[in-house]
Amino acid sequence: MAESMVGMKRSHRCTEVTTSCIGQNVTVMGWVQKSRNKGGIIFVDLRDRSGILQIIFEENDCGAENFAKAEKLRSEFVIAVEGRVEARSGAANENLATGAIEVRALSIRILSESATPPFPIEENSKTKEELRLKYRFLDLRRPDIQRNLMTRSRVATLTRAFLAEEGFLEIETPTLIKSTPEGARDYLVPSRVHPGSFYALPQSPQLFKQLLMCSGYDRYFQLARCYRDEDLRADRQPEFTQIDMELSFVDVDDVLDVNERLLKKLFKEICNIDIELPLKRMTWQEAMDRFGSDKPDLRFGMELKNVSEVVKGCEFAVFKGAIENGGSVRGINAEGQGHMPRKKIDALVEYAKGFGAKGLAYAAVNEDGTVKSSFAKFMKEEEMAALIAAMDGKPGDLLLFAADRDKVVFDVLGNLRLELARQLGLLRKDDYKFLWVTEFPLLEYSEEENRYVAMHHPFTMPMDEDLQYIDSDPGRVRAKAYDIVLNGVEMGGGSVRIHQADIQSKMFEVLGFTPERANEQFGFLLEAFKYGVPPHAGLAYGLDRMVMLMVGADSIRDVIAFPKVKDASCLMTEAPAPVDEKQLLELGIEVAKPEEK
Ligand code: AMO
Ligand code: AMP
Repeated sequence: MAESMVGMKRSHRCTEVTTSCIGQNVTVMGWVQKSRNKGGIIFVDLRDRSGILQIIFEENDCGAENFAKAEKLRSEFVIAVEGRVEARSGAANENLATGAIEVRALSIRILSESATPPFPIEENSKTKEELRLKYRFLDLRRPDIQRNLMTRSRVATLTRAFLAEEGFLEIETPTLIKSTPEGARDYLVPSRVHPGSFYALPQSPQLFKQLLMCSGYDRYFQLARCYRDEDLRADRQPEFTQIDMELSFVDVDDVLDVNERLLKKLFKEICNIDIELPLKRMTWQEAMDRFGSDKPDLRFGMELKNVSEVVKGCEFAVFKGAIENGGSVRGINAEGQGHMPRKKIDALVEYAKGFGAKGLAYAAVNEDGTVKSSFAKFMKEEEMAALIAAMDGKPGDLLLFAADRDKVVFDVLGNLRLELARQLGLLRKDDYKFLWVTEFPLLEYSEEENRYVAMHHPFTMPMDEDLQYIDSDPGRVRAKAYDIVLNGVEMGGGSVRIHQADIQSKMFEVLGFTPERANEQFGFLLEAFKYGVPPHAGLAYGLDRMVMLMVGADSIRDVIAFPKVKDASCLMTEAPAPVDEKQLLELGIEVAKPEEK
């Protein structure tokens, strides 16, 4: 039977009871982690979000009635206990913050009983994630998840304080907006008042923050919820949170500077690491050439080398063909891995194929200087020697090569490099390697849509010196865009924006928008640009990703209170779900029957 807490007031959270409280009476409330009845004496571990405190019940102290209640306690009962703090009678428990004390109970109330939970509430749970997410309200009681969410809250608080100090205003922007299908797919919300019309949920506050700059707000930020209907991965959710900001009268360096100081502050306070400023910067082209990725993980080397020049004269059809077709041959040197068994190499080849490789050529340099290779038979001895020299191959090394279009080669070797690092245990979670990637291409060609699409978004400013190529060679134009990368994860990104109507119109033209369509979709922005618009730039972090990296979690699901799973559903509430016929009728919506197989 549940008792009331009337007349009792919690005096401390569990771990706020310390050795300095010895001799005092305290009132604590929380959940029973476990209860052990040793006959005549009952030990209870009491848990709240701060941690665990040991309570001791003996009939002599608390009386028969209270003792009888203590005998009934089971895991996850919610109780209130008044007791006296004492030094631990047994050996101190060094694993607990409160390990040197215990509370001798004088009275207890059972505030609420609990059914047996479907899985134990414990750190490093071995329970399957699906079950944990179905009972997320219980999962959220686990200390590791609680710590993650407490860290997340601190990051938000520190960010607000820092940005306010720097003169940023926190301004909310709407989440029922007009659909602007560029980038990911929109989530749509039907309008009841305007049958057949839809709002979209924002993929980011991008347009509104630019309008705020037009309106003179100068420095804006928001912890903004964003929605994107895209395929989910460990670091992607359909709804997620950005630390979003925009600044007026600035260029690239100004944005990077304030953000470096924000990162320094956050990572000092949260992870106690000292980031050295300025952070390393690398152009997109250099990142691709050296790491095969626009978000390189700098915790280890194994850089790509372009050996096209070295092998261009050889007779190996795979290499020759790739170069003749305008592609390249590049390799990585897995130092000291020459002994890798054939089976493991074959697995790497299969892995590479998953990223579009047609194959993966390898050469292991034996200790005696001979070479074991999948393509030696197509090469002259001196050609192979030159190739190994170009790769800095030493006895004991394993060289891996991809030959294809650059895009494929980068993708294959960039991912192979990461896979090898994972296999070799090179990815230390307590090592934080930050990097700005700059000078992204403005556009990328979409084979699917048969046109150029914006690599970042259509409002990103081309680099001044490249603007001249926008008609003749759009693919060559670089953008004033930057990403902040941490340990191979794109933690944030932004750009300087176009603030001139003529460049913006040009951009829409290159993206294949007719003036009418541009007007239909972004008319309000183009209109605003007619009335005096300051140069402006901004950036947004994925808050979930940032916290994931800070706490060393493997997935952003571990730092989101109520995340969704791979198919974008919520296992706990079972959203999304069909709605009443009446609701649909009101909205003027008829759902097409899924086609029968
Ligand atoms: P962008 O699209 O690069 O830029 O997004 C910024 C950051 O948001 C995070 N992010 C995500 N996190 C979790 N789940 C997702 N599905 C997801 N998608 C993105 C990433 C990313 O770096 N308006 C621009 C920013 C700007 O130009 O100022 C924007 O949204 O960490
Ligand atoms: P093959 O001539 O098909 O026997 O290929 C010889 C070697 O080249 C094998 O190890 C293949 O995996 C490898 N290979 C095939 N295509 C490529 C490619 N595009 N890039 C790198 N290696 C390749």
